[in-house]
Amino acid sequence: MKLLQGKTAIITGASRGIGRGIAQVFAQHGANIAFTYSASAEAAKVLEDELAATGIKAKGYQSDAADFEQAQKLIDDVLAEFGTIDILINNAGITKDNLLMRMPEEDFDKVIQVNLKSVFNMTKAVQKTMLKQRSGSIINMSSVVGVKGNAGQANYAASKAGVIGFTKSVALELGSRNIRCNAINPGFIETEMTAKLNEDVVKGWRESIPLKRGGTPEDVANACVFLASDMSAYVTGQAINVDGGMLT
Ligand SMILES: NC(=O)c1ccc[n+]([C@@H]2O[C@H](COP(=O)([O-])OP(=O)(O)OC[C@H]3O[C@@H](n4cnc5c(N)ncnc54)[C@H](OP(=O)(O)O)[C@@H]3O)[C@@H](O)[C@H]2O)c1
Repeated sequence: MKLLQGKTAIITGASRGIGRGIAQVFAQHGANIAFTYSASAEAAKVLEDELAATGIKAKGYQSDAADFEQAQKLIDDVLAEFGTIDILINNAGITKDNLLMRMPEEDFDKVIQVNLKSVFNMTKAVQKTMLKQRSGSIINMSSVVGVKGNAGQANYAASKAGVIGFTKSVALELGSRNIRCNAINPGFIETEMTAKLNEDVVKGWRESIPLKRGGTPEDVANACVFLASDMSAYVTGQAINVDGGMLT
């Protein structure tokens, strides 16, 4: 069953990891896909070709989600190419972990810019289109760390907690226009972002998860399909944990 047939989705940060997984699963569900990346032009081209081979329309855009003007231009370009935008997935994110004692100001600012300000930039840019359509689904990638906090990730946790507050506020503001806004809190999803971690730390994470494994990009993508599709027509303002039971 194709749950996203005929819908157009923008996914930020889809050249690898969770974003790429979302793009692949959305294509299987029939969505047309515009996606962004920051620097991985080659990986983006490979993904664009792979998605197009499934018969949907797909295009990758190099665009810095942290830059307000670039986000506006991206939405204009996607509208010109695809004609409509039904789904926005704010997925682009980075980490710059350090204990607060050692965290330089620029690492705090950069993580807030890329993880939180980007969500403002993209949501603001797409708002007019969704208001005109009187429909839309916005999905913001937060993290269990935004709910629980994590030593060594004060910048990241602050950005992700901010994403949840932003999500709930947008849901309240735009609900009357049939625009829904939800967040997903992934737990430990095995991607390049987590490959930077020490192997013993990774083992410890896996053992502490009730489902006894790290998550996959596909696990997160399946939750996104639900939130993007009409299956979740009465769900807004929520932050759903996709974490194997980590936060209970
Ligand atoms: N992995 C986890 O366990 C986990 C857990 C909770 C939440 N999350 C969240 O899930 C999201 C995806 O994580 P991931 O693990 O898939 O990360 P990843 O493998 O590091 O991929 C990050 C993606 O974001 C893009 N990106 C980075 N900065 C950008 C910018 N300024 N503008 C546009 N795109 C940018 C990257 O593009 P380039 O390839 O061009 O650099 C890449 O496509 C993030 O928001 C992350 O915080 C991840």
